[in-house]
Amino acid sequence: MAKQNIYDNEIFFEGYQKLRERGVNANNLFEIPARYALLPDLKGLRVLDLGCGMGDDCREYIRRGAKEVVGIDISEKMLEAAKAKNADPGITYIRMPMEDLYKLEGGFDVVVSSLAIHYVEDYKGVIREVNRLLKKGGEFIFSQEHPVNSCYGGGERWTKDENGIKIYSNLANYGIEGERESTWFVDNVKKYHRMFSTVINDLIDAGFAIERLTEPVPTKELVAKYPDYYDLYHRPDFLLVKARKI
Ligand SMILES: C[S@@+](CC[C@H](N)C(=O)[O-])C[C@H]1O[C@@H](n2cnc3c(N)ncnc32)[C@H](O)[C@@H]1O
Repeated sequence: MAKQNIYDNEIFFEGYQKLRERGVNANNLFEIPARYALLPDLKGLRVLDLGCGMGDDCREYIRRGAKEVVGIDISEKMLEAAKAKNADPGITYIRMPMEDLYKLEGGFDVVVSSLAIHYVEDYKGVIREVNRLLKKGGEFIFSQEHPVNSCYGGGERWTKDENGIKIYSNLANYGIEGERESTWFVDNVKKYHRMFSTVINDLIDAGFAIERLTEPVPTKELVAKYPDYYDLYHRPDFLLVKARKI
């Protein structure tokens, strides 16, 4: 199956790095706090991070007491940045796509993945391997683009009133799963849309029990400060899932 390594594209990488360096972004305000809230006590645990990017989370897991963290990513540039700014004796960074998880040995207590799994076509195959890599009772905690977002395949994202205020988020082709191409820093960025029910049912079929779902939305105070995030009341950006191997 096709694998895209867009984070190694020079223009994409620079754009993404600038976005993450900006303190105020949706990762810092919504995704990271929501994901950290789902984590167990990591003291003494073995953690695997799928699509670890620049390694900030890997280091945070060590800071929280993890005994060992393995971070894998398809992108050389992201891993270079990880090794430069988030090196730690407890962390091993490996360049590999998560489609190749069959190459890893198991025994992990927690598998985490942040905003990476929507780049993968073979979701079923990846979560089957995640299940194998976890100890019994181990947790899989991941975030992805929310399905009401990942279905976007072109056209106007919003319906606006006569004053240009967004009144509806447009939804089209939600029920057609599969590849979507969009422009984000560069053209032809490939992601994969799956319906909410598919995301959950495939996990159940792979041997997980669903423990918690999160769709982060801003507080009123946050919207008062950053009005653009009112968008998330119409349509959440992220879906977070906590599942346990049974
Ligand atoms: C939005 S970034 C998130 C990085 C990091 N998890 C974070 O939250 O800061 C997505 C990451 O997924 C990686 N990625 C994309 N497709 C992948 C694949 N098939 N296997 C492994 N990593 C992949 C990208 O290279 C990138 O580092």
